[in-house]
Amino acid sequence: MDTVTVRIMPQGEAFTAEEDAALRRAGSIIQGGGLVAFPTETVYGLGGDALNAESARKIYAAKGRPSDNPLIVHICRLKDLEKITARVPEEAMRIAEAFWPGPLTIILHKTELVPAETTGGLETVAVRFPSDRIARKLIEYSGGYVAAPSANRSGRPSPTLAKYVLEDMNGRIEMILDGGQVGIGLESTILDLTVLPPRILRPGYVTAEMLGSILKEIDIDVTIMEADSGQAPKAPGMKYRHYAPKGELVIVEGASNQVAEYINVQAAAEQEKGEKTGILCASENFSRYQGNVIKCVGSRRDEEGIARNLFSMLREFDDEGVTKIYAESFEASGLGQAIMNRLLKAAGHHVVKL
Ligand code: TXA
Ligand code: MG
Repeated sequence: MDTVTVRIMPQGEAFTAEEDAALRRAGSIIQGGGLVAFPTETVYGLGGDALNAESARKIYAAKGRPSDNPLIVHICRLKDLEKITARVPEEAMRIAEAFWPGPLTIILHKTELVPAETTGGLETVAVRFPSDRIARKLIEYSGGYVAAPSANRSGRPSPTLAKYVLEDMNGRIEMILDGGQVGIGLESTILDLTVLPPRILRPGYVTAEMLGSILKEIDIDVTIMEADSGQAPKAPGMKYRHYAPKGELVIVEGASNQVAEYINVQAAAEQEKGEKTGILCASENFSRYQGNVIKCVGSRRDEEGIARNLFSMLREFDDEGVTKIYAESFEASGLGQAIMNRLLKAAGHHVVKL
């Protein structure tokens, strides 16, 4: 099939008539059982009708994703939560009021309306109400319930630009809505509200500290930062190798000068062997490095900038044919927890501690 890309302005008072027509066309593709990729404030999503089992099957096929890995159902009105969730605890409404629309996904018990294909066979459903205006309009025109994983082929970094969606999905889906670069760059925080105390299954822009303003107690899934805790992650998707560039990625942790020295020596040795080396560092250390491709992911004082750049830089190393990548390590608190969670997974937990 031909994949059509339509550009839509991410901001503005209202959609133009052409944009509105494209959004309506996208909505009818989804209502007809087809797939449309679209921007959200976190990463691009690959959308299909969440209430249609056949659409879920198509999403798994397009992504090359195992079908036991459940999808997030996206809504565009708080009241739409009712039809797809059961036994909603009182905290859920307070959480929704505080953080929706926004980069938070909550897990609740599902109703019959949601097919088992969408939830990977689970009795629970992940729900998110995004803030992005293109996403919200598309969900509305699609009938209110859009299942959407990140719009990458399984295992690859999540797309933060439409060109990366096209790279992974060309010929596999009907349409891409191009809303430019996303704002956050890392996937939503996932909070499981079917357990007590509620538990964070995936860290994101909404941090444990922020959730703590509403919830008395919060657990954090132990598998978030560890390579092999011996425990299965509660979000099935977190067990797979993820976010990975094609080149082999190693994280190097320690004092800045030692990290730079170690990386420079390793990179020189790898280049001798014919490898093309890449280095991912903070702007503070940029001038310390020598390698084939050196990329500054942002300043350590600006974690939001690092989050926004991380996935696109991993893909840029691929575009430049880098085979061996060395990355600095980052502070793992606040938003840094989400950054390090993705970087560790991308590296398959390969960390050198100096
Ligand atoms: O920011 C985001 O959440 C993006 C945008 C497109 O909204 N979506 C996204 O979806 O990251 P995906 O499919 O790439 O990641 C969803 C994660 C997976 O790890 C999956 O296992 C977990 O959510 N998940 C979904 N439903 C679940 C459930 N019922 N119980 C536990 N984990 C669930
Ligand atoms: Mg994903």
